[in-house]
Formats: sequence, C-alpha cells, structure tokens
Amino acid sequence: MQVISVISTKGGVGKTTVAANLGGLIADAGLKVLLLDLDMQPTLSSYYQLAYRAPAGIYELLAFNEREVAKLASRTVVERLDVILSNDEHRQLNTLLLHAPDGRLRLRNLLPAFQPHYDLVLIDTQGARSVMLEMAVLASDLGVSPVTPEILAAREMRRGTLQLIDDIAPYRHLGIPSTPLHLLINRVPTVSTNAKLIQRTLRQLFQEQPGIQVLHSEIPSNEAIHRAAVQGLPVHRVEHRRPTGRAAPAALEVMQRLATELFPQWHEQVARVTGKDRRAHVERS
Ligand SMILES: Nc1ncnc2c1ncn2[C@@H]1O[C@H](COP(=O)(O)OP(=O)(O)O)[C@@H](O)[C@H]1O
Ligand SMILES: [Mg+2]
Repeated sequence: MQVISVISTKGGVGKTTVAANLGGLIADAGLKVLLLDLDMQPTLSSYYQLAYRAPAGIYELLAFNEREVAKLASRTVVERLDVILSNDEHRQLNTLLLHAPDGRLRLRNLLPAFQPHYDLVLIDTQGARSVMLEMAVLASDLGVSPVTPEILAAREMRRGTLQLIDDIAPYRHLGIPSTPLHLLINRVPTVSTNAKLIQRTLRQLFQEQPGIQVLHSEIPSNEAIHRAAVQGLPVHRVEHRRPTGRAAPAALEVMQRLATELFPQWHEQVARVTGKDRRAHVERS
C-alpha cells in the first residue's frame, strides 16, 4: 500500500483537484484507492457522489482511533474508490492532536488497518500549517505539492515547504525517515513564455534541496477540470480526447503521465484506462 499526501501551505493551488482526479484515475486503472479528507472544509468529501455513506469519518478515526474499515470508509460512485469523510465540524481535531502525546504520529500508527484493503491511500490536506498537515506528511511515503507557475507563489512555496520539512526533521530520531516531496506545477497557461521561465526557476530554486524534486509532468490550465468537478466525475472521463485546435493534451493523457511518473509500478494498468468506461453509471441526476 502506497501512501501519498497532497500538501501545500497555500490554499487554492489544486490539492483537492489532484487528490480527486488522481484517485479516480488509479481506481479506473483497477486498483483500490482510499481518499482521506483531512481538510475541515469537506471539499474532497463532496467531490464524488456516494454509493454508501459510512457511519464514521475522519473524526472517529483520529479522535477515537477507530480502526474498523467498514465503519470508516464510504464508497463513492466510482468503483474501487472509497473516501473517509471529513466530519470535524467543530474543528476540534487539530487541538486534540496538538495535545495528544502521539498526535503527529497518530495517522501513521493507524494506517496498518487499511493495508489489507487498499493499494493506494491519498490524503488531501488543508492549505495551512497545522498539526494535521504535519501528521499527514509523517504518515506518507511521498508528498505531492501542487504549485502554480507564478514567481511569488514559487517563493512562498519554497519558504513554507522547507520550514515544514525542517520542523518535522527531528522525527528521524524516532526512526521515521523524512518524506520526499514532489512539486507538481499546476494550472500551466496554454500560451505563456513566462510560465516556462517560472518552471525553470522553480527547478533551480529546489535543485540544491535533497528530497525535493519537481515532477516532469505538469497540469495545464483546463476548464474540463471545472466541468468534471461540477459533474462529480474524474476529469479523465470528461475529456479523454484532445479537443480540436488545442495544443495542450487531453486530460486523460495528462493524468496518465502524472500517474505513471508517480506510480511506475502501475504503468501498464494506467495505460489501459480509456476514460470511456462506466461513464453512464455515474452521471449526476
Ligand atoms: N489545472 C487546472 N485547470 C483549471 N482549473 C483548475 C486546475 N487546478 C485546479 N483548478 C481549479 O482551481 C480551484 C482551486 O482548486 P482546489 O483543488 O480546490 O485547490 P486547493 O484544494 O489547493 O485549495 C478549483 O476551482 C479548481 O477547479
Ligand atoms: Mg482543497
């Protein structure tokens, strides 16, 4: 089981979008995926319609150490894609975890409960520094951090990310290796030389940082992403072919490239996704 957290100290950079669409693609590739919505604003929880709503959610998982998958995992209408819903309405979890002796390690300690059931756990987080964010990173094999191609965003990203990594570094004394971070450039404008420059700058900014790399795959700015969110579908099902006259590749191809770069072990399954399958079952009424 692979555990990936989608993180950023900034809001609106595409964390939830990446978690929802990457999860949807990997599930369509035939693997079992669990989304964890650690954002108190339940955006990821409401992205996909549910085929089954579990009685418990993130609150029971983290506050009560609930380990029973049947109680925690809601099923989305996308086959093989489950979600543990955000239900910390009173915003108590962060304080609770801050004061618990095992707070930042709680998720890491609970993950073995999911191991027999899932191939991939994808954790969506809130766009701010918090105990929850540190806990997510400490539980993950890898962090993916979306960043938009603007120089100020890139600098803020560097500052915030490096600080986060520094702050949790002492956990290595407990035998927890530092989590490698992959930066994902998101919302790349279709025509802009400036964006190219910023991509280069970002790569240079992080060149010297061990454990941090900029992914080769990028996500172009694409209105199909918005349409997919409205329909509650993974974007690769909404745009599986490149619209005529557009230079940027189809969303299916973009997501396949990203998935293959992150999960080379699943490249064959990912390559077989057509984006056409099972579409009729999931249209919103
Ligand atoms: N590549 C993209 N192209 C077009 N719109 C995007 C793209 N990525 C994200 N968005 C839009 O940007 C907004 C913020 O994205 P979201 O995933 O909610 O960010 P975060 O979770 O980091 O706050 C959403 O309306 C989403 O549809
Ligand atoms: Mg979000």
